[in-house]
Amino acid sequence: MITVVGSFNMDLFIEAPRFPAPGEAILGKNFRRAPGGKGANQAYAVAKMGVPVAMVGAVGQDAFGDEMVANLLEAGVGTRGVIRRDTVASGTAMIVLDATGQNQIVVANGANETLTAADVLANRDSFLRSQAVIVQLETPMDSVAATLRLARECRVLSVLNPAPFAPVTDALLHLCDWIIPNENEAAKLSGSEVRDAGSAAGAAVAIKLRSACPRVAVTLGANGVWVDTPEFTGHVPGFKVAAVDTVGAGDTFIGAFVARLVGGVPVREAARFACAAAAIAVTRRGAQSSIPTHGEVEEWLQRQG
Ligand code: RIB
Repeated sequence: MITVVGSFNMDLFIEAPRFPAPGEAILGKNFRRAPGGKGANQAYAVAKMGVPVAMVGAVGQDAFGDEMVANLLEAGVGTRGVIRRDTVASGTAMIVLDATGQNQIVVANGANETLTAADVLANRDSFLRSQAVIVQLETPMDSVAATLRLARECRVLSVLNPAPFAPVTDALLHLCDWIIPNENEAAKLSGSEVRDAGSAAGAAVAIKLRSACPRVAVTLGANGVWVDTPEFTGHVPGFKVAAVDTVGAGDTFIGAFVARLVGGVPVREAARFACAAAAIAVTRRGAQSSIPTHGEVEEWLQRQG
């Protein structure tokens, strides 16, 4: 079992030919909404991989909150750790997709901002039953720190996805068993530019040095992932696909990767599987709605040869 502590957002999408410049208004099309949020997306991805998962987070007492919780329940995610707040709206994300499927996102954190350390600590039972705990930076830093401390206390593998990037202390990073940033987050954590596998390797070493965390994976979008662990260090290439929507691809990678790791799959193989899951996700629209099942990923990989 895996516990995910993190955010819920209702994603509000508009497709546009390009991103507008500051102060500019442009015409887009195809407005739609779909459940998202980094934490909820990662929990959903774990469930789609067939691994039991519990979600800890906060939503408003509103229609978006109802819809987002129902969507997780339908996928089989345990939601007993999800708090309903009647004083604040559910988190929302305004997402513009350009013609190449790249995105720009602004999040109104709403109920996510109310998640406290005490809310996390109330889920000790779930942590004790888990083989891994995953947390991101889309809920308050206190809730992130409480998650990593509780995971250490319960001797459960802790995975930090430092997204969206926020300054983190070395003390917090010391509590992680895995740190999985994307290129931008890795650059900010390490203080060095990340453009490719070579520069990701340097950033991973710098992150390991400042964090004493033994396992770092830097995701590189379509270029795959650089993994630095005692078991395997190297580049795991991605897959070339025609992307229509990259929202939630990183979350798909993390959910699939950790699901495979707790299943006992070696790091390199787990990373390849997770790259395939993310590649499939970018060929579909939406965050949670784009995440494939374990079986779909296996079939897809077989077709790649
Ligand atoms: O990682 C993708 C997610 O980031 C979106 O679903 C959006 O809600 C933002 O939180």
